[in-house]
Amino acid sequence: MSGHGTPIPMTSRKAASLKGTADVPGDKSISHRSLILGALAVGETRISGLLEGEDVLDTAKAMRAFGAEITDHGDGEWSVHGVGVGGFAEPDQVIDCGNSGTGVRLIMGAMATSPITATFTGDASLNGRPMGRVTDPLALFGAQSFGRSEGRLPMTIVGAVDPIPVRYVVPVPSAQVKSAVLFAGLNAPGETVVIEKEATRDHTERMFAGFGADISVEETDEGRVITLQGQPELAPQQIVVPRDPSSAAFPVCAALLVEGSDVLVPNIGLNPTRAGLFTTLREMGADLSYENMREEGGEPVADLRAKFSPNLKGIEVPPARAASMIDEYPVLSVVASFAEGDTVMRGVKELRVKESDRIDAMAQGLRAAGVAVEEGEDWWIVSGLGHGNVPGGVTVESRLDHRIAMSFLVMGMATERPMTVDDAGPVATSFPIFEPLMAQLGAQIVRGNR
Ligand code: S3P
Repeated sequence: MSGHGTPIPMTSRKAASLKGTADVPGDKSISHRSLILGALAVGETRISGLLEGEDVLDTAKAMRAFGAEITDHGDGEWSVHGVGVGGFAEPDQVIDCGNSGTGVRLIMGAMATSPITATFTGDASLNGRPMGRVTDPLALFGAQSFGRSEGRLPMTIVGAVDPIPVRYVVPVPSAQVKSAVLFAGLNAPGETVVIEKEATRDHTERMFAGFGADISVEETDEGRVITLQGQPELAPQQIVVPRDPSSAAFPVCAALLVEGSDVLVPNIGLNPTRAGLFTTLREMGADLSYENMREEGGEPVADLRAKFSPNLKGIEVPPARAASMIDEYPVLSVVASFAEGDTVMRGVKELRVKESDRIDAMAQGLRAAGVAVEEGEDWWIVSGLGHGNVPGGVTVESRLDHRIAMSFLVMGMATERPMTVDDAGPVATSFPIFEPLMAQLGAQIVRGNR
């Protein structure tokens, strides 16, 4: 399956050691939100450290189609001239969000309470993902949606002419759904309330407050209750995008698995709604330390130092931690393969509706590489073989999923025989410099088959 042009097979083989500093790109979640909020503010928002991956570039293109003026000044410096809340123009072309669930869901929310119509599409992965979780609450505001069966893209959203504010309990732990409702609430008069039973990443709430929206968050017995006053005038901001902990996960995990490694990954955001992987790795016995802990722009930030960790132990990952590491289970399952004993991951049904069915994609590839995996609808268990005992030596499918591709390439750095992914093209959606960055640390990654 492709959708990003000609497939790019990539092979990684045992590296001698990984050493040096890994400067990973800007946070994907925060980059999307910076562009969309910038487009909804009045005046010029300046963004530095924007992730220039395909997903975010697709969101920039979409914001231009809705009327914002966006300029790339080079080196991650961008500016956005916004049109104000309620000021979106009707796009005269189909909005193609490529591979990005975050892009399409947040943008649908942002336009759903304006009297305009827009049609959305994406690649084969995105067009297979459920959108009903977003269009259901948008219908409560008065927006209509017309998509394919099971609420899939391509889909047309007819925005509400007279939007009604809503009170919505998010039925799945999803920051995208929460954020779509909050973006829609911006142009609805009165109070929109979103309740989430499990806390998910809170970048939207933090950034709305930063742009001057009246938003409050209360922890109650019902869950996190987020209250937004509609129709604010958003003030343009200067945003410094922190580096992405989900991208940092790859060099960090690679360093734990490759003998003799010592890698520094500086300036990583450790927002508690995102940092679950690092806690889990430390519980498994990883030699992973936080250096230079500090606060930047209201977020905890640290330099991560990861060293080869030969005695990792399998653990039971607390299900309550799932949302804070939801994108990191694929690479965790790779680390678990090199640990002693079972790593048990429960409460992770959401993994089935990501860029691919991530439990299935990883389970099939890990089994082919010689690792036993058991799975159910919302759980999986990886039986680790211990360091030096994982065979590898196979070609696996990336299924248009950047994190599946990068996880198996990390795996190949420590398996006995090389690992090939059939198409590493999707890596460009979130981590366009993955290949040179890993090579600079000493990884042996080449284009082509084993
Ligand atoms: C994201 C939320 C998560 C995550 C995705 C980014 C966001 O998705 O998997 O990579 O930026 O809001 P869900 O909201 O579907 O859990």
